[in-house]
Amino acid sequence: MKLDTKVIHGGPLTDQHTGSSSIPIYQSSTFHQKNFAEAQEFTYTRFGNPTRQALEETIACLEFAEHGYAFSSGMAAISAVLLNFSAGDHVVFCKDIYGGAHQLVSEMFPKHGIEYSYVDETDPSAWETAIQANTKAFYIETPSNPLLKITDIQAVASLAKENGITTIIDNTFMTPVYQNPIKLGVDIVIHSATKFINGHSDVTAGLVVTSNEEIAEMLCKTQKMFGSMLDPHNCWLVLRGIKTMKIRMDSKTENAAFIANELQHHNKVRAVYYPTLANHAGADIHAKQATSGGAVLTIDLGTYENAAVFFENITVPIVAVSLGGVESILSYPYTMSHACVPEKERIELGVTEGLIRLSCGIEDKQDLLDDIVKALEYVDAGAVSQDAGQDSMVEPF
Ligand SMILES: Cc1ncc(COP(=O)(O)O)c(C=O)c1O
Repeated sequence: MKLDTKVIHGGPLTDQHTGSSSIPIYQSSTFHQKNFAEAQEFTYTRFGNPTRQALEETIACLEFAEHGYAFSSGMAAISAVLLNFSAGDHVVFCKDIYGGAHQLVSEMFPKHGIEYSYVDETDPSAWETAIQANTKAFYIETPSNPLLKITDIQAVASLAKENGITTIIDNTFMTPVYQNPIKLGVDIVIHSATKFINGHSDVTAGLVVTSNEEIAEMLCKTQKMFGSMLDPHNCWLVLRGIKTMKIRMDSKTENAAFIANELQHHNKVRAVYYPTLANHAGADIHAKQATSGGAVLTIDLGTYENAAVFFENITVPIVAVSLGGVESILSYPYTMSHACVPEKERIELGVTEGLIRLSCGIEDKQDLLDDIVKALEYVDAGAVSQDAGQDSMVEPF
């Protein structure tokens, strides 16, 4: 089945009881038990709910996995996976990791006695060097946020397998439309469904899939014990979002590739980061493991002042934390997604004051480009070409 068909027919499409063309929102916390002493499929929504089950089956199918789990946010999904490690375990993370996951690791792992280290994700030998006797997992994000750094998924997953290590990936940026990590040997795939999968900036949700029975059992229990499952109404909204995910992604991605291409030689832009640009580090690896560059690009305007005038003059995208909506979303990683990464680390990662991240929506691509080019008129070309320096730091909010 092709993906265009699968987003509609991959999970349950109609309600088995009524034939309803939309899976109903089973807005119920509990279920009448016909026989109090006998088990039945649904008993209590925290343990299982038909609307959630439909979503979980759908995401499992789209990611070529056996099991899916829906959580109340991407962070709830990440926590469910990561907080299952035990005292004395060691986890290796890609350096360019989402700020919220970075904060979870640096604040919660020490409390639970879980060890961790970060590696330059673009260098497969760095993953190998980081392995310790107690290493239990590798954690990848590719393309990463916000610099779109590329990790060779297959190389890292096969190194993990040789060493009895579990591979976890945050696949939010690519979605199941463009990258299917289970097929590349990854054990656990996480999504912030808040972003492209739901796609309308009106839900927070997280999804996890796996084909490993032991991990599946652990996730099912965690969902129940942490109580961090997604509620029926939001499950229904995400299910609805999935039906148009393929056409939305294709439209956004066309816009992003067009803009990245147009801006790469613009004299007011110091650098454009987008995975399918020929000069993007790891573009060849990305092309091997994904079928598109995705809808996110990051541009470097050199200084805080340039970023500020750009934000003041842009009119089409909304300025917000988040990405993946039908509307274009412009954000400032330095004080938004990466605010909780200590300043020194942020700078070392390359998350500097001149960076602006654009998540393309489904608007007309020329309208988007014209708006960006107009806002760039206010940018100081001299400052773009000079070294940005760090003497005008702004406080993260
Ligand atoms: C790559 C990535 N993973 C995870 C998350 C966390 O998702 P949520 O905000 O749904 O908790 C985000 C949020 O921006 C993200 O960008």
